[in-house]
Formats: sequence, structure tokens, C-alpha cells
Amino acid sequence: MDNLTHNIRVLQKAFPNRFLCPMVKANAYGHGDVKLALHLEKLGIQQLGVCLIEEGLLLRKSGVNVEILVFRGFDEVGAKAIIDNNMTAVVSTWEQIEALEKVANKKVSVHVKFDTGMNRLGFRVEEAQKVFDRLNGHAKIEVKALCTHLYIGENAQEMDQTSAHQLQKLNKISEVFKSMNVFCHALNSSGILNLMEMEKKGSQDKSHPLYMQNWGLRPGLMIYGYSSLGHPDVAGLKPVMNLKSVVNNFRQVKAGETVSYGAKWTAQRDSVIAVISIGYGDGYHRLLSNKSSVLFDGKSVPVVGTVCMDYLMVDVTDVVQGRALETFKNTEVVLFGADQKGHVLSADELAHKAHTISYEMLTSVGERVPRVYVGKETP
Ligand SMILES: Cc1ncc(COP(=O)(O)O)c(C=O)c1O
Repeated sequence: MDNLTHNIRVLQKAFPNRFLCPMVKANAYGHGDVKLALHLEKLGIQQLGVCLIEEGLLLRKSGVNVEILVFRGFDEVGAKAIIDNNMTAVVSTWEQIEALEKVANKKVSVHVKFDTGMNRLGFRVEEAQKVFDRLNGHAKIEVKALCTHLYIGENAQEMDQTSAHQLQKLNKISEVFKSMNVFCHALNSSGILNLMEMEKKGSQDKSHPLYMQNWGLRPGLMIYGYSSLGHPDVAGLKPVMNLKSVVNNFRQVKAGETVSYGAKWTAQRDSVIAVISIGYGDGYHRLLSNKSSVLFDGKSVPVVGTVCMDYLMVDVTDVVQGRALETFKNTEVVLFGADQKGHVLSADELAHKAHTISYEMLTSVGERVPRVYVGKETP
């Protein structure tokens, strides 16, 4: 919780008066959305982003009072749920406008999404005038903001790359909507970190698309302590989640014997194998079989053999070095994150080995893994 607080304070300090909407979709990137949303509310966050209506409903039922933006589409039933629960729809299609019109019994505020190049969600750029005409002076729908989503946010510092073009497009669209007094949000973690890097360099080039407007911020990954830019972040972010497990039992394996399904690992010497209580059923990717390592008593030890649904095995021969295994019974095992002595195994490093990204490592952590919250819950 302290690290989450730290990451949010970094953003609040760097961008004191901006729209700041942390994304807590996908169970807050695996961290536990209810607990984190309530904490973010205490930190003064005024809006949160979810994907599903159901995610928003869970937050509302759990006592989250701040504005909740729902990014996924909806039908009439969904529109009613959004309105009844005082959430804000991010509107991406004509059908969604119609659904809201049909069920709204009071004036509802919406954000309107434009597709500036990702080709996933949102009205097309050419439709801007038509959308404006449809919603201008509308009896039931009030447009509060416009938004888009960067699809290669990593390049946001470049003048002539996709992100710059996307921001320029949204800027143009906002001129069409000028009389509605809207603001725009567009920056994900990559966009934000690029902006912070530019500021650190002292660049204040007002013609740069990142500075065209006070773009609203929708940070996801970075609030959980990881950089999406692939190099050390300027912000000094602190990873929020440590994924830990325990030793289930130790096996003495003779040279030549194999470990786990498919016999994909053969002991080259007499070995001590620790069976760890976590597997792909908990979100530890099977792709990491024979590839990754874990922190065992602060030391990096290799995962050997195939990762099972409920277990994985590690070779701890060099760590135990003939000592009584009993002394290692309660040894802390870290799959990623930091151990109690401050040794770190980054989710980024693990993601790289699994040919994926830290986003997937975090969101994969399964439902049956208990989330234990430590640190100050009240800032
Ligand atoms: C619409 C939208 N905004 C913001 C984000 C946050 O992105 P990131 O986690 O890269 O900051 C996402 C995540 O995918 C998203 O879908």
C-alpha cells in the first residue's frame, strides 16, 4: 500500500491540476480492485477507470464513491446499470448513444471516445462533426470529455510518430467540440512517462503534441510500479505486488532422475528439489518451465521441469549445501517482487522470459492466490 501511495503521489505532484484517472480494470491489474480503489479514494483520486460494467458495480457495492468511468461498450441494460449506479459511460458507438437515450430519465454526463489509429474502439475521426451535431444541445446527454488511446505510447516524445499524430487528431476533434467546453484525456503510462522524461530534460516545446493541451491522464501499469517504456523510469516508481509462496516439501533426487511431467529436466548430480506451492493454475505461466528462477532464501534458484497446475519445482542444491532441510522449511519464496531482505526479482524480467509483458504477469495472478495487504492503508 505504501508503494501504491508513493506512485500516486509521484503523479499528483508532477501533474497537480490534471484529470487523473487510475485504471483499476482487470482486478486492478491483479492487485485486488476493491481494496486498491478504496485506497486510491483516500489518496484524493477523483475518478477511476474500469473496463466492465460489472467491475464498476463491484466497486460501487463495496463503497467506492468517486466517479467511475466504464470503458467497454454497453446495450440498454448496461446503460441502465451505468446510470442507476451513477457511473460514467465512455461512449464509442451510435448504438450506445441510442441506448442511453432510451433509458436515461435524467441528464447523463458521458465521455466520448475517438479512434485515432488503434482501430479498436471509438468513433472514427471523420465522424467528429456528426457526433457533435447529434449531441449538441441534447436533452439527456451531456458531453464532458473526449478521449483516445495511444497504441504505441512508447514513441510519444517523437514529433512525427503515431502518438503525436493521435494527439494532433484528438486536438483537432476538440476544436469541433469547443462550444461544449470539454477536456481531453489520452495519456496512458507510456504517454505520461514520456511527458515526465521531456519535462526532466527541460523541454517545454509548446508545439509538441504532448504539450498541445493539458491531456488528462489514465495511468494503469505505472501506478502498480512498472514502467512501460522498457528502460528505468524517470518517476522512481515502486512495484506494488510481491508474488510469494512457500515450500511444500523437499525431494532428494538422484543424478539421472527426472522431475515433473514429461521428464523435461534430468538431474545432472544428486540434487535437492524444493516443491513450491504455486503453478499455472495460479497464473505462473507454464511457458516458464525450465526457464525462470525464483528467489529462495534471497538467492536465485532455477525452476526445473514443467510447471504444474498447482506446483513448480526448483533446484536448491547450491543453497542448502548439505544443511538440514528442516531449517529451510519456512523459507520465503518469491516468484516476483521483493523479498523481506530487499532482494528483487522483477516481473519485467519474468515477463521477458515468458515472451510477454509485465501487464500479463500481474493480471494473470489467479483468484485463488490470497491478496495480503501490508503498509499504511490510511495515508
Ligand atoms: C482505455 C485505456 N486507458 C488507459 C489504459 C492504461 O494503460 P497503461 O496500463 O499502459 O497505463 C488502458 C489499458 O490498457 C486502457 O485500455
